[in-house]
Amino acid sequence: MKRLFAFLASLCISFATQAQTTTTTSIWDNPMAKFYLVVSFIFVVSLLVLLTLLYLLKVINLLAAKAAEEKAERLGEVYQPEPSLLHRFWININGLVPKEKEATLVLDHNYDGIKELDNHLPPWWKALFYGCIIWGFFYMLAYHVFNSFPLSISEYDSEVAYANAQMQKTKAANPGAQINEATVVATTDASMLANGKSTFLNTCSSCHRKDGGGDIGPNLTDPYWKHGGAIKDIFKTVTNGVPGTNMIAWGGVMSPEAIRNVASYVLTLQGSNPVNGKKPEGELFKPKTTAKTDSPKAQSSL
Ligand code: HEC
Repeated sequence: MKRLFAFLASLCISFATQAQTTTTTSIWDNPMAKFYLVVSFIFVVSLLVLLTLLYLLKVINLLAAKAAEEKAERLGEVYQPEPSLLHRFWININGLVPKEKEATLVLDHNYDGIKELDNHLPPWWKALFYGCIIWGFFYMLAYHVFNSFPLSISEYDSEVAYANAQMQKTKAANPGAQINEATVVATTDASMLANGKSTFLNTCSSCHRKDGGGDIGPNLTDPYWKHGGAIKDIFKTVTNGVPGTNMIAWGGVMSPEAIRNVASYVLTLQGSNPVNGKKPEGELFKPKTTAKTDSPKAQSSL
């Protein structure tokens, strides 16, 4: 015993010193962890207490049954064990009729000696059935007559409205998510273009070559395009891919922001004329706007 105590003490001390020396955050720093530990400890202890009580009860029952049996023997009677609490409960909730009283259930028809018992539905079933009818009555009053609670459809509508409001908030906080093929504008920002370039080298160059000269995929440096050469076209091609070709839809893999960056980078390759570039494919693309202008008048004339 002494040894055990010494071992436990040394264990505690080693834990304590370890806790002092370690600087990394452990799971025990979380206050919830302690809470769960205490709760599970209480749970396990209560479970053990309960099991012990049940066992004791069983022993007491057994002793009582034994005593009753001995008493009956002494009096010269036939010992008939009392049905257990659980058994009586079972009989009651199912409305079971004992075999001796079966005659009360026999229906008065008799087919060639075959008789039929008119067993009742179990009381729990009837309670559930009538309970449902009563519940349904109050439910109808509350939901359809007095409109005290929202119906499923209005609950759904309010949840959708809430989700939409939440989405608007997220979008407002994160402008990148608002980029789509209708709104995208080519970026000239150096860091965004650098980001686009690294995406291109990592993800696209295997098919379009590092310099964009084309390999499995077409040459991206010439003014000929199969799917349009405007930023919105390129954004769309990259986002949706070209079904039936090796050009997959990158929209599921990359954020709209990343696609805007790589599409803008692709546009900077125009006219770079790399050696051994692939032959032009598609049609000559003429940009609709040659000069970028902020004047609404000039824009409307285009
Ligand atoms: C597995 C090979 C492969 C990869 C990787 C790939 N592409 Fe493509 N890409 C293709 C092929 C093939 C086509 C031609 C589709 C067609 O025939 O219409 C294409 C077409 C395109 C086009 C349209 C060209 C045109 O003429 O209209 C653009 C723009 C493009 N890719 C950009 C990209 C970008 C940006 C990436 C990287 C995010 C990328 N691709 C990654 C194979 C690839």
